[in-house]
Amino acid sequence: MDIDIITLFPEAFECIMKFGPIRKAMESGSLRVRFFNPVDFAPHPKQVDDEPYGGGAGMVMKPEPLFRAISKAREGFESSHVVYLSPQGRLLNQEKVRELARREHLVLISGRYKGIDERIMAFVDEEISIGDYVLSGGELPAMVLLDAVARLLPGAMSDPDSWRTDSFEDGLLDAPYYTRPREFMGMEVPGVLLSGHHEKIEKWRRYQRLKRTLLKRPDLLKRARLSEEDRKMLEEIKRELGMED
Ligand SMILES: C[S@@+](CC[C@H](N)C(=O)[O-])C[C@H]1O[C@@H](n2cnc3c(N)ncnc32)[C@H](O)[C@@H]1O
Repeated sequence: MDIDIITLFPEAFECIMKFGPIRKAMESGSLRVRFFNPVDFAPHPKQVDDEPYGGGAGMVMKPEPLFRAISKAREGFESSHVVYLSPQGRLLNQEKVRELARREHLVLISGRYKGIDERIMAFVDEEISIGDYVLSGGELPAMVLLDAVARLLPGAMSDPDSWRTDSFEDGLLDAPYYTRPREFMGMEVPGVLLSGHHEKIEKWRRYQRLKRTLLKRPDLLKRARLSEEDRKMLEEIKRELGMED
């Protein structure tokens, strides 16, 4: 897939392009990333921001350079999905990430200052927020989105199935993990993980995922796809924790 990023600071992305899933996805050809700087689309004197009409503090990103950058990015694509990273958008979650990863072409707009001229919203398909707090620019949110999408693309992970067991993939949090040594400061690795018994390990992990979700994010359980066996396990967990309804 293609991801185009409209930003005043393309160099800010260098640090995440050099390693990890983004780099691997790019090397394997499943991801292409380009940057469009509104400065390059602004007429002389290259002004990309201006004072807000009506007065008030801060500057606003001008519409013409942004519109030209979006149009340039869209050239040659049949279907483009334009996202404005904004604290006013819908909160990003794994379901949205999966949906975006299936698209042919994403155009991500990183705002700065007080934000972008509202008229650009006519060319935006959706607004996405990475949380209920305000950052100084849309670069970090665009990086978050880029990383989350890239790791789902073919070639991004050494083990292509690794992401399937991550938190949120089936509506639950992930299980706990342990690695060597077997004993660390008096704490032992759970015996079942050393048993080599694949079925028991899977069952233990499912149990742990349900338990963690119940304890840490019970809201997720309402939307999770649970089997009959999951429901029985959940009852068992609630009994174990003294949480019966
Ligand atoms: C200082 S913010 C502008 C905030 C805007 N005045 C408001 O309160 O809605 C500048 C830019 O940072 C980005 N940004 C800040 N917080 C964000 C968040 N939580 N999620 C996504 N983008 C964010 C947006 O692109 C925004 O245009």
